Amino acid sequence: MRRLELADGTPVPVIGQGTWHLGEDPARRRQEVAALQLGIEHGMALIDTAEMYAEGGAEEVVGEAIRNRRERVFIVSKVYPHNASRAGVPQACERSLRRLGTDCIDLYLLHWRGLHPLAETVEAFERLKAQGKIRRWGVSNFDVDDMQELPAVEHCATNQVLYNPAERGIEYDLLPWCQARRMPVMAYCPLGEGGSLLRHPALLEVARRQGASPAQVALAWELRQPGLIVIPKAANAEHLRANAAAAELRLSEEELAILDDAFPPPTRKQPLNMV
Ligand SMILES: NC(=O)c1ccc[n+]([C@@H]2O[C@H](COP(=O)([O-])OP(=O)(O)OC[C@H]3O[C@@H](n4cnc5c(N)ncnc54)[C@H](OP(=O)(O)O)[C@@H]3O)[C@@H](O)[C@H]2O)c1
Repeated sequence: MRRLELADGTPVPVIGQGTWHLGEDPARRRQEVAALQLGIEHGMALIDTAEMYAEGGAEEVVGEAIRNRRERVFIVSKVYPHNASRAGVPQACERSLRRLGTDCIDLYLLHWRGLHPLAETVEAFERLKAQGKIRRWGVSNFDVDDMQELPAVEHCATNQVLYNPAERGIEYDLLPWCQARRMPVMAYCPLGEGGSLLRHPALLEVARRQGASPAQVALAWELRQPGLIVIPKAANAEHLRANAAAAELRLSEEELAILDDAFPPPTRKQPLNMV
């Protein structure tokens, strides 16, 4: 699996695994644990989760999946904005650590901006880092103006945002802003949640030319950007194998032009979309 280096030099895989909707149904738990483990075997050893997902249920599934493999996996989790106060962050982090069955989260994000002052959240993140409970911190769903207001932004390890061929708004300003600072961007919903994006004729055409699937084309298209990490969620073993292999796909100029025609790049500022 191709890797990129975080600002502190730590290598992480460019394709990780999402966990939204995991942990919602106890009957699916064994299958979900097995899927995450298969993904790790295929090199997608970065797992993105959040205290929000199934209200802790997804973190518990991740905890089970990484037992006996903790050192091979890079764990990303997120704190709810309403818990992002000076006192709330360490309490939320303790709960996440317990559910994940680990003593340290590799990357801890503010899920989206809420009402607590950013200075309080960042102060709490820095304290957790000093205590060794998190290795680094970052944000999610932050637009350029939010990034400009973020205290100690030079310590922010990533901004996790919506990005796929049908959601290109960040290319206008946020993505270049992060790239100029060598801050990796983590693209969520890289497959458009598995919906109509994957049936779009332009993706189908490029997939046909590549002998690949539309999902692989979407991931390869996103990964053409330097400093990008994608976190597709897949429960299906075939999907997992296909997603891991997408790291090797290179789209030609002609194929990129087909996708540009179907999904034009932004020509002016667009407010950051969220899912
Ligand atoms: N920070 C935020 O605010 C935020 C918001 C949304 C999401 N996220 C994170 O980003 C992750 C990814 O986003 P997402 O889960 O919403 O959507 P997604 O990854 O864009 O799409 C997931 C869907 O695509 C299907 N799929 C996966 N691989 C496929 C393949 N190779 N071919 C065809 N279909 C495939 C999956 O089906 P199967 O499961 O059946 O394989 C699932 O239905 C989330 O799980 C979460 O960790 C973060």
